[in-house]
Amino acid sequence: MIEETVLHEELDPARYIERVSLVSGEVLDEPILPRQLLVRYHRDYHVVDIHARHMMSRMMRATGDPEATRRKMKERRRQGHRAASVIARAIGQKDVTKVSKALFGLKDREYFFRYKKPYIAREEVQDRLAELKQEATEKWQAARADGPPRVRVLLTGGTGFVGKEIIWQAAHDDDVEEMIVVIRPKEVRDRKTREVIETRSPKQRGEVLLDRLWLDTPEQRSKFRFVAGDVEQPELGLEPAVIEELESRLTHVIHCAASVAFDDPYEKSFHANVTGTLNALRFSHRLQTAAESPFVAHLSIETSYIHGRQVRDTAREDEIVFPRNFYNNYYELTKAMASIETERFMLAKGLRVIQLCPAIVIGESRAGNNRGDTKVVNAPVNLFGRAQEALGSTTGSWVDRSKGSMLARMACTFPGDPSAEINMIPVDRVVAGIIAALKKPAAVGERVHLATDNRLKSEQMIRVVEEELGIKVKLAEPTLHRTVTLPGMTRLLKRMKQEKIARALNTLGTIFGGYSEWGQPVHEVGNDVRLLGLSETRPNTQHAFRMLCRHNKYVQNFGKLWDLDEMSRREKVWWEFIEDLEDLAGRPAGSMSAVDFRGALKLGLDLAKFERKGTGT
Ligand SMILES: NC(=O)c1ccc[n+]([C@@H]2O[C@H](COP(=O)([O-])OP(=O)(O)OC[C@H]3O[C@@H](n4cnc5c(N)ncnc54)[C@H](OP(=O)(O)O)[C@@H]3O)[C@@H](O)[C@H]2O)c1
Repeated sequence: MIEETVLHEELDPARYIERVSLVSGEVLDEPILPRQLLVRYHRDYHVVDIHARHMMSRMMRATGDPEATRRKMKERRRQGHRAASVIARAIGQKDVTKVSKALFGLKDREYFFRYKKPYIAREEVQDRLAELKQEATEKWQAARADGPPRVRVLLTGGTGFVGKEIIWQAAHDDDVEEMIVVIRPKEVRDRKTREVIETRSPKQRGEVLLDRLWLDTPEQRSKFRFVAGDVEQPELGLEPAVIEELESRLTHVIHCAASVAFDDPYEKSFHANVTGTLNALRFSHRLQTAAESPFVAHLSIETSYIHGRQVRDTAREDEIVFPRNFYNNYYELTKAMASIETERFMLAKGLRVIQLCPAIVIGESRAGNNRGDTKVVNAPVNLFGRAQEALGSTTGSWVDRSKGSMLARMACTFPGDPSAEINMIPVDRVVAGIIAALKKPAAVGERVHLATDNRLKSEQMIRVVEEELGIKVKLAEPTLHRTVTLPGMTRLLKRMKQEKIARALNTLGTIFGGYSEWGQPVHEVGNDVRLLGLSETRPNTQHAFRMLCRHNKYVQNFGKLWDLDEMSRREKVWWEFIEDLEDLAGRPAGSMSAVDFRGALKLGLDLAKFERKGTGT
């Protein structure tokens, strides 16, 4: 594993982060290992620590007061230190720290981490950003000199969840004249044997993408061009002739490609997210500095979770600090490093950049459509759904049925605190922000959270899941679940030869559990409205989450539908059904109760054929 060996200089976190002594305030010349920057490195190292975390979590549940819980824990730590010094004296041990570590797991960190940033006086930063905004405004005026704006964009990540919505909205936006999408070839493997059965070219992938997005008119299709590339390669892996041609055409670059896997190792996340971002920034800088360049700005798609587990203060839009409580995974960490690189390019090289930071992106706000995405929040919802189906199964022997029922009950336990607030934002709102940013030169130099102000608590999500899917999910205390229940369940499942479920549960618990523990970050919002002109009323998260559950159940079959052509057909039928339903009901489908919605569904949709009743479509 990379972390256990010497890191290649390029990957060294010390390029971005420094370790500072809490005692002297000096920067410590000690190596920084990637794993030291994650939450999991700093917990569960001692039985007393586990117990203390468990108690904190219980106290949070009982009081709902994070500050009181932290105060109480500090008091306990002080008591532990006092007891350790008494015991150390009694046994003649001079090193009290050794005693407190061994007996009570009390290890006071003597350092903290912070991002390395060159010192630039605030006024100087403001002057530089004002210059960049001014330049962007002039370029933007040139792009709309004689008539409507002519936006010509290069997009990375167009085949992904967010990228598809960007293509869809761009197709319907008259100001976007042309979109060049960078796509890598794709190997298609046999689902069973994993053998490569076909390699799809970027052009083929692009054409299929347009079909699946229901973009069928010649005007819509002619806007898009698909070029071969790979963001991890210099110049994005584009052919020199393509770059030359683009230099005189492009007004914007949207860098959206990334690896959004919460369980990727550090090196993989780094290459996709940091190296990929650096290549995109260099590419944009080349465009910006080319002679007669029409280039307006680079849009960097980041995440509001670059703030990691910064839980005390609101995560601000105008700054990034190393989180007191570290990062949940290497995805967040490397996205934060990429954000630091983006800031550097802006301030040191004068690249005109807008940083856009979505929270957890979920399906479209009206119908829940997500074009086959199964990541992040979809993963637990789909697992619960499949577990529920197993629970209700009436086939097989009595033994099989009771085994299935036991497995399902296990799968429906999720580590989380009822009060944990999760920041989910529908993809259409995120992309409305991205498309708006293309036309807002005043947003250059700014970081914008594309997040919600109506966060959903775990307990509300659990309630919606029960109402919509009939699944009773039990929220387990996270520390106990992580350290005792989950390892026990995994052992049992393996003994029952249920490796797949064991793996799914582990992934779910260890990878997604971090997002439903107490003390989640609160992301400041406001720039989305002030700078991008989005509506002040952000989508209703509860409604959107309801629609996610309904969509994943009926359209996506809880992730069991793999055929993306069929997915596209179903989503169209679903969209039209929801549109008509809303017209009839005079209110959003997401505001309808589970019972009313199911009633309407029965009347309007043949679920077996997935067709509208009475229309044959
Ligand atoms: N989904 C979320 O909840 C969420 C939340 C906050 C921020 N974001 C950010 O939004 C952006 C898009 O996320 P997403 O959910 O759409 O991710 P996604 O569905 O996993 O899509 C990732 C995209 O990046 C492309 N890509 C990855 N590595 C590449 C490479 N080396 N060369 C070329 N293309 C490459 C993928 O292409 P292939 O099809 O070839 O694999 C795909 O198009 C990311 O920057 C992510 O950090 C997402």
